Amino acid sequence: MTAKIISGTEVAAEIREELKGRVKRLKEKGVTPALAVVLVGEDPASVSYVTAKAKGSEEIGMHEETIRLPADTAEEEVLKTVDKLNKDPKFHGILVQLPLPKHINTEKVINYISPEKDVDGFHPVNVGKALRGEPCPLPCTPHGVQQLLIRSGNDPSGKHVVICGRSNIVGKPLAAILMQKKKGANATITICHTGTKDIGYFARQADIVVAAMGAPKAITADMVREGAVVIDVGVNRVEDKTKEKGFRLVGDVDFDAIKEKASAITPVPGGVGPMTVTMLLLNTVEAAERKAGI
Ligand code: GUN
Repeated sequence: MTAKIISGTEVAAEIREELKGRVKRLKEKGVTPALAVVLVGEDPASVSYVTAKAKGSEEIGMHEETIRLPADTAEEEVLKTVDKLNKDPKFHGILVQLPLPKHINTEKVINYISPEKDVDGFHPVNVGKALRGEPCPLPCTPHGVQQLLIRSGNDPSGKHVVICGRSNIVGKPLAAILMQKKKGANATITICHTGTKDIGYFARQADIVVAAMGAPKAITADMVREGAVVIDVGVNRVEDKTKEKGFRLVGDVDFDAIKEKASAITPVPGGVGPMTVTMLLLNTVEAAERKAGI
């Protein structure tokens, strides 16, 4: 079997077109959805993510401001910045780019963001709501994975989804989203992690495998059953002297081997990545709509 390639770029473009219409409607009511991104330091991957977020916002007609702070900014200063953004009625969404420098307590900063403006869905109030299946901003990457599955004709309902990785950003919230008794969810979930003795044993039983482990080729062809759907959340830089930047991006799965076995697979880049930014735009538009009473 040769897998169908699930294009995150195409699905993201489709959603962004829908968002353009919603932004236009908000603007007609005198509301411009606005996102504030806080970047502390100059980690190259973070800079590239933040640039994509600014560009995506602009493309759908949203307002975006990136607040760039030096890497040695004191925690108190970061909290003050968040506080100012919480109180500024112009902004509907606030995102503090992670990882933060080591001297800053990430949980403290996340907990400081007003839950209504937490377009990352990382605040404990929103994490709790997501687990309970209540309306709230959902974390962008797992929400993007769910949308990719639904819109590519691989509705997870009734399927066995094996999630490899238990991070607070991907694995845990994805399990919370896909286990809800809702349309586009209602799946049976297994989570594998570094404490799992034999990930392949579980992954081979999956209708859908989600790889979010942060290591190239962590999922190999022998770990996937014939006809499974494979979603690759990994973004790893591997050295490649033929590239101008000296590296290329690869995911967590052995793409070339698995594409001969799976029924559908996401590429890296061009799979989950474009969906993450799109879900951030969606969360910001929804926060603006809520505030405008739409
Ligand atoms: N760093 C990597 N992924 C994310 C994300 O989804 N949100 C934020 N704020 N930082 C990240």
